[in-house]
Amino acid sequence: MCDLTGKHGLIVGVANKRSISWAIAQAAAASGARLALTYPSERLEENVRELAAKLENPLVLPCDVTSDQQIADLAATLDREFGGLDFAVHGAGFAPADALHNPFVETSRESFRIALDVSAYSLVGLTRAVAPLMEKRGGVSILTLTFIGSDRVYPNYNVMGVAKAALESSVRYLASDLGPKNIRVNAISAGAIKTLAASGIAGFSSILQVYRDRAPLRRSVETSEVADAAMFLLSPASRAVTGEILMVDAGMHAIGL
Ligand SMILES: NC(=O)c1ccc[n+]([C@@H]2O[C@H](COP(=O)([O-])OP(=O)(O)OC[C@H]3O[C@@H](n4cnc5c(N)ncnc54)[C@H](O)[C@@H]3O)[C@@H](O)[C@H]2O)c1
Repeated sequence: MCDLTGKHGLIVGVANKRSISWAIAQAAAASGARLALTYPSERLEENVRELAAKLENPLVLPCDVTSDQQIADLAATLDREFGGLDFAVHGAGFAPADALHNPFVETSRESFRIALDVSAYSLVGLTRAVAPLMEKRGGVSILTLTFIGSDRVYPNYNVMGVAKAALESSVRYLASDLGPKNIRVNAISAGAIKTLAASGIAGFSSILQVYRDRAPLRRSVETSEVADAAMFLLSPASRAVTGEILMVDAGMHAIGL
């Protein structure tokens, strides 16, 4: 049911081998998909190319999600090379360092704008650009990555929590807009994982310790476990699921105290 043989997918958000998006890329490739990976800047291009070299016949393309032009160019290249698109993974997230260190009340207008632009609006812009490619295929899936800091306060998560709330709401509105075209839009809310993005959040290690102490499974999750859940949401196995935020967090969300 989670077979992706013959499918073409876009993966945005690979920075290094610890990236959740990289685990999803590996799982999707192992399930038979041909992939396009993106990099946001020259600084990360080499990393992404090195990882992509482990995949079969990948495309590696630039895409800074804050640029409408780069998103449009990406969609045009995918259309030319793949002739359509079966799934897309959106794993881009960013907030300026000051917003993740200072008290939330001190968040500047500019840091708020950047965090919401990169981490939430980009799903809307990207979805709009690839939707015409997806319409060419029957039954396609868009997946983004979120965190429970959207709903509850986590120390120093700050403006990222606000961005994730906007992202999750965007998932529902996009699912409603695109459902009639059989394009599904979902999110995985992952438990805390030590990645590049996570290392920007002050005191992240103590968040991980709370998972070990209190989550029903007494641990947090691994990127491969998020990827396994992603295979469900990207494949026809989830063909009746859209507008959903799937908790893949070792049960942490169920705990009150
Ligand atoms: N690590 C966690 O604990 C955790 C938990 C839940 C959700 N998430 C979410 O998962 C997603 C992936 O994060 P990760 O933890 O794998 O870390 P990561 O640092 O590996 O991935 C974040 C990605 O965002 C990309 N990015 C940043 N600015 C961009 C831009 N302007 N254009 C395009 N891409 C840009 C980076 O290049 C990077 O690849 C993020 O949305 C993150 O918020 C992470």
